[in-house]
Amino acid sequence: MESPSLPVTAKDWTSTSLHRVLCMQGGEGDVSYVNNSDCQALAITLCKPILISSLQSIKLFTSPIIRIADLGCATGSNTFDTVDTVVETLRQLFTTVYGGGSLEFEAFFCDLPSNDFNMLFRLLSEKQKVDSSKYFAGGVAGSFYDRLFPRGTIHVAVSLSALHWLSQIPEKVLEKGSRTWNKGRTWIEGAKKEVVDAYTEQSDKDLDDFLKCRKEEMVEGGVLFVLMGGRPSGSSSQFGDQDTRAKHPFTTTMEQAWQDLIDEGPFLAFALINLVRGFDR
Ligand SMILES: C[S@@+](CC[C@H](N)C(=O)[O-])C[C@H]1O[C@@H](n2cnc3c(N)ncnc32)[C@H](O)[C@@H]1O
Repeated sequence: MESPSLPVTAKDWTSTSLHRVLCMQGGEGDVSYVNNSDCQALAITLCKPILISSLQSIKLFTSPIIRIADLGCATGSNTFDTVDTVVETLRQLFTTVYGGGSLEFEAFFCDLPSNDFNMLFRLLSEKQKVDSSKYFAGGVAGSFYDRLFPRGTIHVAVSLSALHWLSQIPEKVLEKGSRTWNKGRTWIEGAKKEVVDAYTEQSDKDLDDFLKCRKEEMVEGGVLFVLMGGRPSGSSSQFGDQDTRAKHPFTTTMEQAWQDLIDEGPFLAFALINLVRGFDR
């Protein structure tokens, strides 16, 4: 199955509305996210002990329903593993304290509207046929830089390998001829300081918006767990080391491929909306 097709114009690829059209590859083919997310799965596995210990610090709620949100869930199956970990850990915790009772779980899978939610729910329904740790599930299409839930309703929110996506390309880097113009480059690796600063400014604002929205939505005493890539403070490179830089697709080869597409006409320009934050941010 292909990802939902939204009308894509050249302007969409260059403008601040890029986040409406970019998405993980849907379906379950060879190039789908489902079959190409081992790296993210490994990051989740490595962080699982920290997730579990942070869940154990949760304030114990008297609410009979525990609501979990995965912000930037993509199409599966990493999101299911994460939600399972949350449900199992909390079920055990509540069983120890309250003897289980009639506790129920509701999981919200959240991503941009362009995400292949059909794939996600198909995989989920197959999984839930054979799964004991059942929960009620819903999809939420929207940006995690905006409010997604009513005030004080979410007990656990997780966001894994997603917050390096900014809400938009900083407008300044698209202003042709300005000091901050990124001269048609696709990204900030190797770009001049003004461009990196514009991306950093956008990333600071976005993180602030993200936290303000969660502050409204979360129940007091809940857990917000965020996993995102980082780089050493003060490093101007988006990559930790030379080796990673050589392997990353958005190096010279990819820039050249985009340049060819731009020269051939379908796109006016292309820029990425990602920024790997330094630890100091
Ligand atoms: C690399 S995937 C990670 C998916 C999953 N969390 C995992 O660990 O496998 C990042 C996801 O974040 C989503 N995303 C990016 N920006 C977003 C935003 N502003 N609001 C909601 N989701 C967003 C993308 O669409 C994508 O599905």
